[in-house]
Amino acid sequence: MQRCLDLAQHALGATYPNPLVGAVLVHQGKIIGEGWHRKAGEPHAEVNAIASVADKTQLLKSTLYVNLEPCAHFGKTPPCVYIIKEYKIPRVVIGSLDPNPKVAGKGIQALKKWGCEVTHGVLKKESDFLNRRFFTFHKQKRPYLILKWGQTADHFIAPDPSDKNDASIFWITNLQSRQRVHQWRSQESAILVGVQTLVDDNPQLTTRDWKGADPLRLVLDPNLRTPKNTTLYKDNTATYFFHKQPKAPSDSINRYIFLNPYNLREFLGFCYTEEIQSVIVEGGQKTLQGFIDQNLWDEARVFQSEKKIKKGIPAPVFNKEATTTEFINGDQLNSYFN
Ligand SMILES: NC(=O)c1ccc[n+]([C@@H]2O[C@H](COP(=O)([O-])OP(=O)(O)OC[C@H]3O[C@@H](n4cnc5c(N)ncnc54)[C@H](OP(=O)(O)O)[C@@H]3O)[C@@H](O)[C@H]2O)c1
Repeated sequence: MQRCLDLAQHALGATYPNPLVGAVLVHQGKIIGEGWHRKAGEPHAEVNAIASVADKTQLLKSTLYVNLEPCAHFGKTPPCVYIIKEYKIPRVVIGSLDPNPKVAGKGIQALKKWGCEVTHGVLKKESDFLNRRFFTFHKQKRPYLILKWGQTADHFIAPDPSDKNDASIFWITNLQSRQRVHQWRSQESAILVGVQTLVDDNPQLTTRDWKGADPLRLVLDPNLRTPKNTTLYKDNTATYFFHKQPKAPSDSINRYIFLNPYNLREFLGFCYTEEIQSVIVEGGQKTLQGFIDQNLWDEARVFQSEKKIKKGIPAPVFNKEATTTEFINGDQLNSYFN
């Protein structure tokens, strides 16, 4: 099962709205095939694992390990339980059950009906954790929320904007830490900032220092005060602006969504309807504090550098115990789970 999880992990960020799934086939104590779901619309892990087996007659006496209950419904591809039946695989071992109540248990039911021996709950905690975005989305009907910020050793997230004398960004963290952030962005459905961050920093919000797709860009901008020259307007990719103005601009690329951005539940409800499964919230202070104060977060990733700036925009108030701490070339990275 651990091998299934390791395989599944390869596709992090590429399978939305689908979960991460890996599958391994074992015959007489030896792995004879394995595969994972690489991308939404492409074959599921079970199909890829079966396809990789050279001698398909061995499947008649094999065990299929898979970290999520095989599907029993038609989506973009046929149900996996059919292919398991077709090859008469006698035993299936599962990590997590499908969180979607319409699907949960149906895969197992179908397999048992055909005489397959089924075990589930093996490495359940680890399997649930791997698909925490998918589980949160389906169970809590909101995206999985990751808060991220960088702070100085004296707890500021930016110098005072009035002290800035040019348009350059003051980087708190080092290059390696910033590259890690770009990797994280490639793993999430969307990235969110408050409008003041656009005003002060004019960020790109891309994965330019990493491979992988850019996340969808979301901006909380109640009064539509995004500057006209913002970098986000300069490419052909849509940014979603959440505002509460009776009249919004319209253009052919971006979306202007009318709701109260201060009502984060309303905002998250919109994300759910749009199948946005995860959001990395990258600031600034007011935006992050809003999520913290309403206990709307699942993970926080906080860099602390050795720099001191004496004054500036204070870091969010966040009195939690870090689950893990790591050092990246002098920056301290604390990770928290809610
Ligand atoms: N170190 C880091 O990791 C990091 C990351 C990002 C940004 N920053 C820094 O943070 C600074 C900006 O931070 P900030 O706190 O001033 O602004 P912010 O959080 O970027 O934006 C705040 C503004 O967003 C709007 N907003 C809409 N819905 C909101 C909600 N639910 N909660 C909070 N705000 C909401 C409000 O606009 P209205 O005022 O129009 O109502 C609010 O004033 C920048 O200088 C930037 O350099 C640092």
